[in-house]
Amino acid sequence: MKMITVLLSGALSSFVLSGCIANKNDDSDHSNLTASVSKAANSTPAFEAYQQDPNPTTAFNYLFDVATHPRCVNCHGVIEDGAHRPTVGDNSVPHPMNITSVNNLKMAVQDGKFVQVGETHPVNCRGCHQDENAREPGRPPGAANDLMPGFVWHMPPPTMIIGSDMTPSKLCNNWLNPRLNSFLAQRGGRDDMKTFKKEFEHHVSDDPLVRWAWNPGPGRTPAPGTHAQFAKAMSVWINGGAPCPTES
Ligand code: HEC
Ligand code: HEC
Repeated sequence: MKMITVLLSGALSSFVLSGCIANKNDDSDHSNLTASVSKAANSTPAFEAYQQDPNPTTAFNYLFDVATHPRCVNCHGVIEDGAHRPTVGDNSVPHPMNITSVNNLKMAVQDGKFVQVGETHPVNCRGCHQDENAREPGRPPGAANDLMPGFVWHMPPPTMIIGSDMTPSKLCNNWLNPRLNSFLAQRGGRDDMKTFKKEFEHHVSDDPLVRWAWNPGPGRTPAPGTHAQFAKAMSVWINGGAPCPTES
């Protein structure tokens, strides 16, 4: 508890030092730092079961462990104190400095590139999260690439929150429901598996934010397996008809 608090305040002061505009009214609630059980591990039983016997069912179980890992969950965020907030660290505590979706970037696709649109808050994700990870622990991670030009650090709409109560069955059905996924492209779903395959395979292979989960910078546990294994497991699952687990 103490150590985490020190890390968080360390992050805050390194911002002041680096000249980044930090929100001085940091009223985020740090009292639950010890409450959650860490889900951070870079190998899991489901990953090992998939390695032993790759099939659509074991593949989805591995995909689920990745999607519920803090590296993915943190940016998709939580609703807390009435706001959609990113979280940080292996225990997914609310982002310091009271960062919420108010600080998010709005993106749209224009001529095959992602561009920022609309009003941008003066303290926004890009002010701190650049194209690469900062070199010291506790400082902002970053990601960008040429596979998805302009797709930089920002958070998705609240329909894509992966809460601590997420189940494999629910996540699977959410992914196959185009209304709950990307606002930037038509993703397909159960009724249009051809588009779903194309878009989801593209998303997991090329998205710099997804790839970042295996290159998260110093002091952060990477997601289970490797990025290549994750992308492969997505194809195994989709090519096998994208079966969803039943609620157990
Ligand atoms: C004022 C600077 C600042 C702004 C603005 C900011 N962040 Fe951060 N962010 C940080 C710092 C510093 C960390 C590292 C905290 C740590 O590792 O303890 C961080 C960490 C994160 C992480 C945690 C990664 C992990 O898995 O532990 C996520 C996710 C994140 N920020 C998302 C966002 C999003 C989304 C926005 C915009 C809505 C945003 N941040 C705006 C400074 C900022
Ligand atoms: C730094 C922030 C960030 C991180 C880290 C991140 N995501 Fe996302 N994710 C987003 C954003 C932003 C979108 C929405 C883009 C849009 O509106 O099309 C998104 C959308 C998605 C979608 C919806 C698919 C679609 O395109 O319709 C899935 C699935 C997803 N993310 C999975 C993951 C997984 C798995 C990880 C970890 C390996 C991850 N994300 C890590 C920001 C992030």
